[in-house]
Amino acid sequence: MKSRGIKILMSMGAAALVMGSVVVQASPEDDRKAFQTYYVEKFPNTEFSDFNNGVYSISESFREQWESIEEFPPYETFVEEGEEEWNKPFKNGKGYSSCFGDNVSAIRPEYPRWDAQREQVVTLEGELNRCRTDNGEKALKWKRGKLAHLSAYISYEARGKKINVVIPDDPKALAAYEQGKHFFYAKRGQLNLACADCHVYQSGQHVRRELLSPGLGQASGWPVFRAKWSGKSKSGDGLGTLHRRYGGCNKQVRAKPFKAQSEQYRNLEFFHTYMSNGLEWNGPSYRK
Ligand code: HEC
Repeated sequence: MKSRGIKILMSMGAAALVMGSVVVQASPEDDRKAFQTYYVEKFPNTEFSDFNNGVYSISESFREQWESIEEFPPYETFVEEGEEEWNKPFKNGKGYSSCFGDNVSAIRPEYPRWDAQREQVVTLEGELNRCRTDNGEKALKWKRGKLAHLSAYISYEARGKKINVVIPDDPKALAAYEQGKHFFYAKRGQLNLACADCHVYQSGQHVRRELLSPGLGQASGWPVFRAKWSGKSKSGDGLGTLHRRYGGCNKQVRAKPFKAQSEQYRNLEFFHTYMSNGLEWNGPSYRK
């Protein structure tokens, strides 16, 4: 009974894919309502506003450890490094604010968004690097390091603002949204599992020693610091971007991950973040 909304949503997505654009699809708004209602009904002890805390929104015991770590959060120094990077002028004398403006707290909530001119979904990390290359600087690595620090600073400044991704009524934007949605519900990899298998239907269950977080709220708290990520490479300081996690979750099912900032992951981010509209941005975060 509880999963009815999602099943309808899935079958409509599949029908639209098979039959092309003539089919009347569920609107993004209908999708979002069904998605959110599913989790609210599945986890009646979790306040809607708390779903942006991942597994900690659904597990008391994990939550206690997390709350004590949050007293001295390991991502704090990266927020400071990100601020320094933000204020460091480019060789041409300009800086990030020449692209984004000076009101740092207003930046995070603008992404991901549909760019009608370039006809693509643009992301915060993508635009940070575009700002660099437009100003003659080298692009930074996508998944960690300085770009993640910048993103941590920008996200930190926006904490408490509401996620409000807009899917414009434009066939190309809707197609990007539908691709992202399809990505989320499509089975892949040797294990033949969809994001939705783990984070919709099995959310709240354990796999090995991990608890599967609800898909609702998963895009709110990036970048994320994970003990598991620290020390993995030279620039590995534990902080990673959302697309790094997408890659990790693709690898878990033994599927070849897409590149960070690929069209596939940008469209996925568009869908995935839109599903969390109404929750607060709360990056950066700590995860086990
Ligand atoms: C085999 C099960 C499985 C599949 C399939 C899977 N994940 Fe995950 N995912 C996990 C586990 C385990 C974690 C770590 C615990 C948690 O937060 O759910 C995780 C964590 C995440 C997180 C971090 C959540 C947070 O609060 O930090 C995101 C985001 C995520 N997955 C997205 C995806 C997306 C998008 C897909 C599809 C491309 C996907 N996952 C597919 C198992 C899976």
